[in-house]
Amino acid sequence: MLFTPFQLGRITLPNRIVMSPMTRSRAPGNVPNAQMARYYALRATAGLIVTEGTSPSQHGLGYTRIPGAFSADQAAGWRLVTDAVHAAGGRIFIQLMHTGRVGHPANLPTGGRVLAPSPIAAPGQIHTDAAGMQPYPVPAEMTVAEIHTAIAEFAHAARSAIVAGADGVELHGANGYLLEQFLNTAANQRTDDYGGSVAKRIRFVVEVAEAVAHAIDRDRVGIRLSPHGVAGGMVADADTDAVYLALATELQRIGIVYAHIADHSGLGAPPVPRSLLASLRARFTGAVILSGGYDRARAEADLEAHVGDLVAFGRPFLANPNLVAKLRDNRALIPADPKTFFTPGEPGYLDWPAD
Ligand SMILES: Cc1cc2nc3c(=O)[nH]c(=O)nc-3n(C[C@H](O)[C@H](O)[C@H](O)COP(=O)(O)O)c2cc1C
Repeated sequence: MLFTPFQLGRITLPNRIVMSPMTRSRAPGNVPNAQMARYYALRATAGLIVTEGTSPSQHGLGYTRIPGAFSADQAAGWRLVTDAVHAAGGRIFIQLMHTGRVGHPANLPTGGRVLAPSPIAAPGQIHTDAAGMQPYPVPAEMTVAEIHTAIAEFAHAARSAIVAGADGVELHGANGYLLEQFLNTAANQRTDDYGGSVAKRIRFVVEVAEAVAHAIDRDRVGIRLSPHGVAGGMVADADTDAVYLALATELQRIGIVYAHIADHSGLGAPPVPRSLLASLRARFTGAVILSGGYDRARAEADLEAHVGDLVAFGRPFLANPNLVAKLRDNRALIPADPKTFFTPGEPGYLDWPAD
């Protein structure tokens, strides 16, 4: 089934292989560029490319050298990327990632601030180009006005992405970034309308999804979620399943086109319970993208069992631009090189064999 077409809203994917969103930190000045256009165009045989996390706001650029999608320069940069991917026959969604508390002032542009639902620092340290590894700072607690601004920023960035030629956007609700920070009590201790009960914990994500669906049409909006994930200091609690089930009901009402479920059990996190996945799928009738540690055999098995509709591959795409052909022909894969995941320039980025 992996090599059969799939209708995703208004676009037809020639196969069910999705390229997972992967930050590569190759956008100095936070502006996408010609190198990035070449990198993505080389992977255009994917049924769908989901780009690296891209900030909708000056406050969401918490990692070094990641792109944004809120300025005119950034839109022009994304136009290079989307044109190159489309010319190579591909389809591309831009992942909108607001880093929230998972950031550092040294990585932010002038005027950028580390914002989060509550003033609780993420555990651990973060790389900065200016001063090496640094502890995560205590973020500023967002005011309700700042929450409304962030929602508007997501809608504006989604519009910019479409104007720049993207086929859609993926809201990054996974891996401990701003959207998940609202869902999770490890980062959200608010007592107003945006924290506390299940309905209040999901409210920010729901309002972002509504605003973005309104801005660009619901069939061009997907979301990534990582229930039970631990990235960025997230901690599951007694309400975790209820949070994701309530969210699935709201996403169904809004009518977005897919839910992309990231399972990082291969990286040491607890797995997404299969029972939760089945309950999510019962409530949300859009497409489900599976992700995390897939090879061809596991992908085929989960598609045949209707666990999901599409399967995302992350690390296998890094050193194998032609992953789709290699999977189809059962050819050996070149292993990814973690040393060059986030380093600037072409080494480890554009120097893998194209065939
Ligand atoms: C270098 C690198 C960067 C990543 N950046 C992102 C990101 O920007 N957004 C995101 O949702 N996930 C990101 N991830 C997670 C991947 O999308 C994927 O979920 C993870 O690698 C597990 O899938 P895999 O086993 O197929 O690699 C990143 C992973 C890697 C290896």
